[in-house]
Amino acid sequence: MTYTVRAPAKINLHLGVGAPREDGFHPLLTVYQAVGICDDVTVSRSAGWSLGVTVPDWMDPDLVPVIGDNIVDRAARLLAEHHGIDAVAEVSIAKSIPIAGGMAGGSADAAAALVALDRLWEVDTSDEDLLRIAAELGSDVPFALLGGTAIGTGRGELVERVRDDATWWWVAVISPEGMSTPAVYRHFDELNPHASPEPPDADDLLAAIDEGDAHDLAAYLRNDLQEAAFDLRPDLSDVIDLGEREGALRGLVSGSGPTCVFLSESSDAAREVAAAFTAEGHEVVLVTHGPVAGAHVVTYV
Ligand code: C5P
Repeated sequence: MTYTVRAPAKINLHLGVGAPREDGFHPLLTVYQAVGICDDVTVSRSAGWSLGVTVPDWMDPDLVPVIGDNIVDRAARLLAEHHGIDAVAEVSIAKSIPIAGGMAGGSADAAAALVALDRLWEVDTSDEDLLRIAAELGSDVPFALLGGTAIGTGRGELVERVRDDATWWWVAVISPEGMSTPAVYRHFDELNPHASPEPPDADDLLAAIDEGDAHDLAAYLRNDLQEAAFDLRPDLSDVIDLGEREGALRGLVSGSGPTCVFLSESSDAAREVAAAFTAEGHEVVLVTHGPVAGAHVVTYV
């Protein structure tokens, strides 16, 4: 039996960050949206454990952590331990989500692996246990399981679905170099020594989602990590300016960056913004939409 599970990248429509907790993590109030840039994880039966990765031309395969270190190895070990079985499978990841791009690509791989191995090993893990194991793997992993549009609290791992009947069009401008999430959070702390322990709420943004109006949504997009990301990578503010000049309703750094995302009024408008970036020499520019489903089986043979 072979299963392929697809899991989506995320955009944070609102990333409200509070002062660091005692465990070093930051309390968040975030609104996630899953978008149609996805990684596929394929698993099949094997006597041992192996992990392979394929990447598109534009991605540097050396940036993918090697076997033993990859979040997919950890996902397999945790799921196997939970059921008291051996973590054996042949696994391959087909990546499309930028590595260290602020779109939770590693988290998507972990979520996809959990769903795929649960099927392969026929262990029938409950949703509750799957979400708990996902949270142990990383703050964004539960959302990659859930997909859609959702509010994230805690350190981002407590997720609750938000009704979102619209289709939102995005352009994602991928940076050739990744950024370290911990470094961006550390710089946030330097810039905000008096941050409140309570992260800022997303009430206006949630109302805009409910209305389904892209102009309203654009007005309330917010990323508290953006200033820190700009400081560490000053070129990103030029990217945002270019997209907004070229007709995007609003540009925003995605999560901890460096991917920049641009909300557009329609698919045609998004393609125009993307063409403007390509004309300016940006090599990897993707048009996508959200919300899309969380980790789900796409093929099994
Ligand atoms: O949970 P995850 O492994 O994705 O987090 C990666 C790093 O990002 C953490 O080690 C921490 O430095 C930072 N982080 C944080 N607060 C959060 C989420 C992540 O400080 N809520």
